[in-house]
Amino acid sequence: MASWLPLLSLLGLLLGAAPAPPRRAADAQAREAAYPELLGPARFALEMYNRGRAAGTRATLGAVRGRVRRAGQGSLYSLRATLEEPPCNDPTVCQLPVSKKTLLCSFEILDELGKHMLLRRDCGPVDTKVTDDKNETLSSVLPLLNKEPLPQDFSVKMASIFKEFVTTYNRTYESKEETQWRMSVFSNNMMRAQKIQALDRGTAQYGVTKFSDLTEEEFRTIYLNPLLREYRGKNMRLDKSTGDSAPSEWDWRRKGAVTKVKNQGMCGSCWAFSVTGNVEGQWFLKQGALLSLSEQELLDCDKVDKACLGGLPSNAYSAIKTLGGLETEDDYSYRGRMQTCGFSPKKARVYINDSVELSQNEETLAAWLAEKGPISVAINAFGMQFYRHGISHPLRPLCSPWLIDHAVLLVGYGNLPVPVDHSRYWESAEGWEP
Ligand SMILES: *[C@@H]1O[C@H](CO)[C@@H](O)[C@H](O)[C@H]1NC(C)=O
Ligand SMILES: *[C@@H]1O[C@H](CO)[C@@H](O)[C@H](O)[C@H]1NC(C)=O
Ligand SMILES: *[C@@H]1O[C@H](CO)[C@@H](O)[C@H](O)[C@H]1NC(C)=O
Repeated sequence: MASWLPLLSLLGLLLGAAPAPPRRAADAQAREAAYPELLGPARFALEMYNRGRAAGTRATLGAVRGRVRRAGQGSLYSLRATLEEPPCNDPTVCQLPVSKKTLLCSFEILDELGKHMLLRRDCGPVDTKVTDDKNETLSSVLPLLNKEPLPQDFSVKMASIFKEFVTTYNRTYESKEETQWRMSVFSNNMMRAQKIQALDRGTAQYGVTKFSDLTEEEFRTIYLNPLLREYRGKNMRLDKSTGDSAPSEWDWRRKGAVTKVKNQGMCGSCWAFSVTGNVEGQWFLKQGALLSLSEQELLDCDKVDKACLGGLPSNAYSAIKTLGGLETEDDYSYRGRMQTCGFSPKKARVYINDSVELSQNEETLAAWLAEKGPISVAINAFGMQFYRHGISHPLRPLCSPWLIDHAVLLVGYGNLPVPVDHSRYWESAEGWEP
């Protein structure tokens, strides 16, 4: 995986109640404000919301209500407003057709002598029928998605997006039939990406990626790792340390504990990358040197795991211990397919003495990460075939913790700009060129 993606949340691991945003104490002096008085602050909030958005994708103001109270030199406005996001059918602007959307927002705006400052913004879709209820099933979510008719010129636009995709990713197909088949897969995928986009509650953008001409089945078979579903209960010792409380955010990449993002190629070897990333971080923190370590050694020499057909991090740790360490990426470089084991103990540059399983409590996990380094974790990779950037936060039924199929390296975490039902997102050293 080839490029740094600044923010990628950990699917399937987002759980636990988040602290609600601090509520202002009821203020006796607050009063209901009349509409004309609210218009200035509301327009300002809208301007902030639209900042950086392309023409044609800017939201407009719907209803506004609010209260105002004196605050120091100025006035503090607490607004509740609906924003209308326009539909978009222009692929150069929004890539995928997006239907009209209404958002309900709360804003806190400070007005000092006509100068406005946005203190808080909290927007969510008005349609609350789609909730994160644990009881909700896939079948109850997906029919909701099929109501919107496709724009008339959908297939024409799709053909031009596909052409661009073929050029960008230098795709060649063997026959006209295959090209046509890939085009239909692509088109179908764009519709899937659009649905995933519509349901995402984070800031993630889904759309064209280098995986866009693969069927879901192909993507899963080539890149993902179904063995991870049985990951739990693999006799690893449970870490008992309780540790301190977690700082509010953390990023090991900025502290030099993470090597650059590597590309697993067309091989289901995520398990090996996740483990070497963890060992690289531990070695850096304990020994002070950041070494890029060999995944190929694990593909070739860890006989319990299945190279490109998948593996378990727990087995990989045992293999590293039994073999006597890991060579570096330079000495034993990545080929993306299984070869005969060429490990030489003399070339091992790092060793491990043990490995532990960590708590699934996210607070504990965050504290552990900040104190001790990047962690090897496994996620449900739902939507990742079309993931481009941003914080991914799918609905729980789409991202069940029981369908874990991708191992990644957890390198940090932060707080959602607009808290939904959790405030924390996780960052992973994972990415690909969209
Ligand atoms: C979940 O669904 C079951 C069966 O449909 C129902 O009996 C139960 O009350 C639901 N629970 C919640 C929390 O909605
Ligand atoms: C595009 O693909 C062809 C055939 O697979 C290859 O020979 C060529 O080097 C590629 N070009 C680029 C720019 O990647
Ligand atoms: C850890 O393993 C290395 C290499 O196998 C060994 O030299 C070292 O003594 C071990 N350390 C402990 C604390 O067991």
